[in-house]
Amino acid sequence: MSTTQAGVGGPDRAQIEERTLRADRWWLYPLTTFVVFTAFIVYATWRAFEGANYYTTPYLSPFYAPCLATSCPESASDLGQPLGDWWRLSPALAILVFPLGFRMTCYYYRKAYYRAFWLSPPACGVAEPHGAYSGETRFPLILQNVHRWFWYVAMVFGVLLSIDTIRTFRNDEGEWGHMGLGSLLFIANVVLIWLYTLSCHSCRHTVGGRLRHFSKHPVRYKLWTWVSRLNTKHGVYAWLSLFSIALVDLYVYLLATDRITDLRFF
Ligand code: FES
Repeated sequence: MSTTQAGVGGPDRAQIEERTLRADRWWLYPLTTFVVFTAFIVYATWRAFEGANYYTTPYLSPFYAPCLATSCPESASDLGQPLGDWWRLSPALAILVFPLGFRMTCYYYRKAYYRAFWLSPPACGVAEPHGAYSGETRFPLILQNVHRWFWYVAMVFGVLLSIDTIRTFRNDEGEWGHMGLGSLLFIANVVLIWLYTLSCHSCRHTVGGRLRHFSKHPVRYKLWTWVSRLNTKHGVYAWLSLFSIALVDLYVYLLATDRITDLRFF
């Protein structure tokens, strides 16, 4: 199919002069997305390149987990320091490709940033400014299909962040049985990250896809119904987990730079 022929302004389409006939504030969603994503990108880029103030016992910023370089504090390196001395950049940059790749290829985020940044289209019923449309059939957008593989890695990251959350129940001497405000923030963050990861479309396909008869696979059917229910809120979890990651990182930053002290409950 010629995408140009079928695209905006093509002979198969209704010839409407106005860019849109919508009278509501359709621009609010892409504009909000643009502002919030841009703010997050600026903040996350600064923090990822900073390479400092990402750990204060017992809290490790999620931007730096797992911390694999020799520049990481030993107590923050759950998986050891396999990168060795040759990694001179910020430790966050060594792992960034995985959470970033997962989010960039997410079906929900694709919809959001295609609309907000490329205006392709900016909203339903609003013509896009581009003359041709090739969808995700060509390089580089065809690479979005690797999302499934990023999801597998995201599951591993979910486990690692859960371990980091459990480790927040220690005090400065490494003794267990302590809890601070940071622990609550870490719990909220890891719950949202699991909700986001498990509500993923790839997760739904992994647990329930390629089956001819659900009746012969009752366990997978049950899992599929749970994931399907979560999936209806995937966009909400995408936003909330984005905020929670930034908030937890900011909390760690403020603690590490002595701007605040952790509120310890016990
Ligand atoms: Fe959003 Fe998979 S579709 S994380």
